[in-house]
Amino acid sequence: MRRKLAAGNWKMNGRAPDLDQIDALEAAHGDAGVDILICPPAPLLSRMAERARKIAVGGQDCHANASGAHTGDTSADMLVDAGASHVILGHSERRTDHGETDDDVRAKARAAFEAGLIAVICVGETLGEREAANTLDIISGQLAGSIPDTANGTNMVVAYEPVWAIGTGLVPSTDQIGEVHDFIRSKLEARFGEGVGRSVRLLYGGSVKGSNAAEIFAVSNVDGALVGGASLTADAFSPIITALDAS
Ligand code: 13P
Repeated sequence: MRRKLAAGNWKMNGRAPDLDQIDALEAAHGDAGVDILICPPAPLLSRMAERARKIAVGGQDCHANASGAHTGDTSADMLVDAGASHVILGHSERRTDHGETDDDVRAKARAAFEAGLIAVICVGETLGEREAANTLDIISGQLAGSIPDTANGTNMVVAYEPVWAIGTGLVPSTDQIGEVHDFIRSKLEARFGEGVGRSVRLLYGGSVKGSNAAEIFAVSNVDGALVGGASLTADAFSPIITALDAS
């Protein structure tokens, strides 16, 4: 059985007062039967980790090297030192804003595994790629290129985030989500074997809200969500966690 995961990506949002959201989430969902993860911006990470009791805390990126002359970067080991258990890697905003390639993401994932972090590796097509009927080819290439051979269901989560659904209010149909999630599952089983392939949790991300969460969680091979905007407040994130727990 794959344990369900409700993950929040705060992106470049959040200041110290927003840590109150963690207290509110823990009060509401302390006994939830699902894992809850929040990935705040780096400056909040250690304070959030000190405050959180049941909620896991993660980074939004890490460098492939353990240390050295890399101004502005954070190593996987530093995330662990700050209290993180997870790290998001290969988010489309990193791929677009920072030119991250599949090779970069794979190197970062290796570093994350070595540091003992769970890597949440993101894949997803652009609108143009979907309209050109290239979605599955794009996903296939990203999975092959971004995931190290040492990945398994314990050290990795895969998030399907169609670029065109992120922050837009647009959501793929449940058929479209199901098609991609089934495809990702089959690719993982083919590469890592059935047992490992079946143990990897697959998250959907892109405009998930309380109002659409239940129908998304009913789709096969959807084991949770990676949520941006609707994870910023306990009020908005809470119904998503409740829907996942009920699914
Ligand atoms: P939104 O939920 O704001 O669309 O963002 C999704 C996302 O990018 C999570 O990583």
